Amino acid sequence: MNKISIIGAGMTGSTAAHWLAERELADLVLVDVVEGMPQGKGLDMAEAMPIIGKDVEIVGSNDYAATKGSDIIIITAGLPRKPGMSRDDLLSANAEIVGKAAAETLKHSPDAIYIVLTNPLDTMAYLTMKLTGLPRERVVGQAGILDSARMRAFVAMETGVSVENIDCYVLGGHGDEMVPLTRHSNIAGVPLRDYLPADRLEAIVNRTRKGGGEIVNLLKTGSAFYAPSAAVAQMAEAILKDKHLIVPCAAYMNGEYGLSDMFFGVPVQLGRKGMERIIEYKFDDEEKAMFEKSAASVKETHEALKKLVKI
Ligand code: NAI
Ligand code: 2OP
Repeated sequence: MNKISIIGAGMTGSTAAHWLAERELADLVLVDVVEGMPQGKGLDMAEAMPIIGKDVEIVGSNDYAATKGSDIIIITAGLPRKPGMSRDDLLSANAEIVGKAAAETLKHSPDAIYIVLTNPLDTMAYLTMKLTGLPRERVVGQAGILDSARMRAFVAMETGVSVENIDCYVLGGHGDEMVPLTRHSNIAGVPLRDYLPADRLEAIVNRTRKGGGEIVNLLKTGSAFYAPSAAVAQMAEAILKDKHLIVPCAAYMNGEYGLSDMFFGVPVQLGRKGMERIIEYKFDDEEKAMFEKSAASVKETHEALKKLVKI
C-alpha cells in the first residue's frame, strides 16, 4: 500500500485525509502540533472505514517519525486567513511552519513527492523546494485546480449545465491577480465567450478571482477546505496512479512562459515521478499582460520571503 502523510491536521488536512480515504489510494498519517488532535481525528476516520468499506490505515501523531517511508507528503500546516487578511499576510508565520515541516519530513521520506497547500501558496512551494533541495519534479503546489473548479462551479450555476461539461482554466499565482482564461474555457467544446453574455462572464471571472475571500468572509474563522482538499486528493491520485493528468498546479518555472526561479500556476502533467512537464499555452496580448501582472505579484512575495529566510 502507498503511504501519504499530511502535515497539519486542521480543516484542509483532515478533509484531504477524508477524500483520500474514500479513494482507497494509500495508508494515511496525520501530523499536527496539537496534542491528541491528529490521533483523535485519525482514529475517528479509521473507525469510519468499515462503514464505507475501505481498507485504509489512518493514524495521527505529533511525531514526524510516523511519516517514515511516505510516497507523498502533503503540507497544509500553518495559519489560514481571517476576514480582512490577504494570503501574503501569512508569509512570516507560515514560512517558519512550512520550513520545519519540509525539513523534518524529508529526513524520514527522502523519496517523497511534495504537494504544498499552505498560503501564500506559490511562495510556500518555492520555500519547500529550496529548503529540501529536491528537483522541481518533486514539489508541486495546489491552487489552480481549486481556482478553476470555482470558475466551473459558477459557470454551472449560471447555465444549469452539468459541471462535467464545463472546462475552465485559471492559471497564474494564487492571489487576486490570478488569470482566468476565458478564451481557453468551454462548455462541451463551445467557447465560454460564445455561450455567455460578456457581462455575465465578467462577473464570473471577478467572483472566481475573489473566490477564496468570499468563503473567508462567510466562515469568519478560517478559509475554504472542502474544495481545496478535494483538489489535493486529485493531485495525489494522479501521481500514485501515474495518470499523466494535465491540471493547473503551481510549478517551479525554469524558462517556461519566460519565467524563472519562481513557482507559478501553469498547466502541468502529473504522474508517478511528480511534475512531468509544463504545458505552454499561446497567449494573446491581453492574456500575456494578465499573466505578467500576476507573476510580478508572486515574485514580490518570493522576494519578501528571501528577506526572512536564507534560501
Ligand atoms: P487550520 O488552522 O484548520 O489547520 C492548520 C493546522 O496546522 C492546525 O491544525 C495547526 O495546529 C497546524 N500546525 C500549525 N503549526 C504546525 C506545525 N509546526 N506542524 C504541524 N502542524 C502545524 O487551517 P486550514 O484551513 O487547514 O489551512 C491551512 C493552510 O492552507 C493555510 O495556510 C491556508 O491559507 C492554506 N490554504 C490554501 C489553499 C490553497 O488553495 N492553496 C486552500 C485552503 C487553505
Ligand atoms: C482559498 O483560495 C484559502 O487560498 C485559499 O480558499
